[in-house]
Amino acid sequence: MKVENYSLKMPKAVFGGVNSLEKIPQILAEAGAKHVAVFTDKSIKGAGLFTLIEEQVINSGLGYEVYDDLPAEPSYMQVQENIERFKKTTADFIIACGGGSVIDSAKLASILLTDEYGVKELLDEPTRAKNCAKILAVPTTAGTGAECTPNAIVGVPEKAVKIGIVNLNMIPDYVILDAKLIEHLPRKIAASTGIDAMCHAIECYTSNKANPFSNTFALEAFDLIMNNIEKACDDSTAMEEKNRMQIAAFYGKVAITASGTTAVHALSYPLGGKYHIAHGVSNAMLLIPVMKYNYQDPQFQKRLAVAWDKAYHGDKKFEGSEQKAHALIEWMSSIVKHLDIPGDLKEFGVDPKDLDELVTAGMAQQRLLVNNMRTLTDSDAKKIYLEII
Ligand SMILES: NC(=O)c1ccc[n+]([C@@H]2O[C@H](COP(=O)([O-])OP(=O)(O)OC[C@H]3O[C@@H](n4cnc5c(N)ncnc54)[C@H](O)[C@@H]3O)[C@@H](O)[C@H]2O)c1
Ligand SMILES: [Zn+2]
Repeated sequence: MKVENYSLKMPKAVFGGVNSLEKIPQILAEAGAKHVAVFTDKSIKGAGLFTLIEEQVINSGLGYEVYDDLPAEPSYMQVQENIERFKKTTADFIIACGGGSVIDSAKLASILLTDEYGVKELLDEPTRAKNCAKILAVPTTAGTGAECTPNAIVGVPEKAVKIGIVNLNMIPDYVILDAKLIEHLPRKIAASTGIDAMCHAIECYTSNKANPFSNTFALEAFDLIMNNIEKACDDSTAMEEKNRMQIAAFYGKVAITASGTTAVHALSYPLGGKYHIAHGVSNAMLLIPVMKYNYQDPQFQKRLAVAWDKAYHGDKKFEGSEQKAHALIEWMSSIVKHLDIPGDLKEFGVDPKDLDELVTAGMAQQRLLVNNMRTLTDSDAKKIYLEII
């Protein structure tokens, strides 16, 4: 019998639901925190979300300082600049309040606080750094799931790509999923980050690395996303749907940590690195072309059929895997269109002459491409990019 190994890695404690932000003083006390560093950014502050955290830190009676200079989707140098400032601090506990960009930067800071080297060195030797400050992640988007992974993604401008640094010490110690944080998330961001979560769920479920742990979380995430994403994005008062999206984003990322994403994420990375297209937007563009490419594999169809049975709660009846898989791709496509995410690269100034360079950069993401059920060649990747260029 073939023995398979798989593992589940998660934050130590997760607090969800109404007013879970009020847990902050208790978390700080339990962790023995003495001084707090709050990582955030200007948009989060502008949206009034930092104040919600600040109130709770003040309630805890601890001193705190704020790091809010981070741009969205930062390069490793920009993350390092922040860390240099942070190294002069006496803070021993980090609260990261923001989207994936802020959370990833804070996670890197939490393992580099006392080290001589920096993020650049971790690009080559990611496991070198050890945990030196505890961290609470409070996500303000529902998509990246950065609050539960050992990954931090940084731009590497000289290579025109984004690179994921993976180090188990970066799994946040604590997470709070409070829908208040995404109540006024602009629709555009809610849509792209929500589709990112959809990609995590369906890619993990169809990954060559899928296993019982990842399947459980991926299917639950997929069901929640397919049935809540539109209302959560369209209706600012839909707090239940928004909370379900937060839970789904979290589940989707637990699934990734146990399995892995596939060709959507692999081909998406160069678009973020070189053209600074938001991660969820480039994933949304590639999702349907990659699903259609994989559809030619009967095993892939079978997996999509299971995902259809799990997520679809309406009256349509299909018998075979082929029909269910087809219907599921159509459903995902209709959601992407409903959310008004750009369907191609036209508005991003991508020169068709860059196509070969894109293919090379996309195909270099073998870490993820080996997870894709249907093998991709350079010419397959080129055809997929051509569909969106
Ligand atoms: N670590 C991981 O596991 C992982 C996984 C996927 C992606 N990522 C990375 O995460 C980053 C993307 O993260 P993201 O999609 O969450 O977006 P983001 O953090 O880049 O934020 C996008 C913009 O939205 C603003 N914003 C966020 N929440 C808001 C809110 N509630 N109200 C108003 N404005 C708000 C931010 O200030 C920012 O300007 C990328 O760098 C990506 O590569 C990390
Ligand atoms: Zn992603």
